Amino acid sequence: MPIVGSVGQAEWAHDLAKGLLETTLPRRWAHTQGVAARARSLAPILGDEADTLTAAAYLHDIGYAPGLVDTGFHPLDGARYLRDVHQADDTLCRLVAHHSCAVNEARERSLFEALTAEFDEERPELVEALTYCDMTTGPDGTHLDVTERLAEIHSRYGPDHLVSRSIATSTPCILAAVKAVESALATITRPVP
Ligand SMILES: [Fe+2]
Repeated sequence: MPIVGSVGQAEWAHDLAKGLLETTLPRRWAHTQGVAARARSLAPILGDEADTLTAAAYLHDIGYAPGLVDTGFHPLDGARYLRDVHQADDTLCRLVAHHSCAVNEARERSLFEALTAEFDEERPELVEALTYCDMTTGPDGTHLDVTERLAEIHSRYGPDHLVSRSIATSTPCILAAVKAVESALATITRPVP
C-alpha cells in the first residue's frame, strides 16, 4: 500500500477490490461499488475521512473473494488479508473486521475471541457510517431502505441460516447505526430558518 496518509486510499482500495471481485463475484462487486458510492455521499458529515470510509467500503467484502477465504467469516478473512498481505492502514483493517456489527456473526462462528483480539473497534462515527452504507445498499448495488435490506438478507439466506440468526441479533446495532448517520445528515441538510 502506498504511504500517502489517507489521500488516495480510496483509489488504491478500488483497484484492489476490483481485481479480487469483478470477475469471480460480479454481483458482490456491484454491491461493493454501491456501498462505496454511499460512502462518498457522506463527505458532508465526514469531511476528509470520507476517503477513508470509501476505501473501507471498497474493501469490506473482499473476504468473500475465493482466494481469500480461510475461516469462511468474510470480515475476519478480509481484514487479515489487508493486514498480512498489504500491511494496510489499521483503520481500514479495523473497519473491515467489524463492519455491520460483525461481532454477532463472530459469536455464531466461535470466532469472537479471534476477531476482537486481533482487531480493535474503530471510532463509532466511522463504524456506524460503514454499517449505514452497507445496510442501505442491496446486493446489486442499488439503494435500499434498511428494513428492505434486512428483509432481503433474511430471504436470501433463509430462516435457519447462521447469517440470518446473526443479522437478527445485529438488527438493533444496525438500526442504531443507520439512525445515527441519518440524524447527522439531517442536521446539515436542514434548511436554515
Ligand atoms: Fe456488504
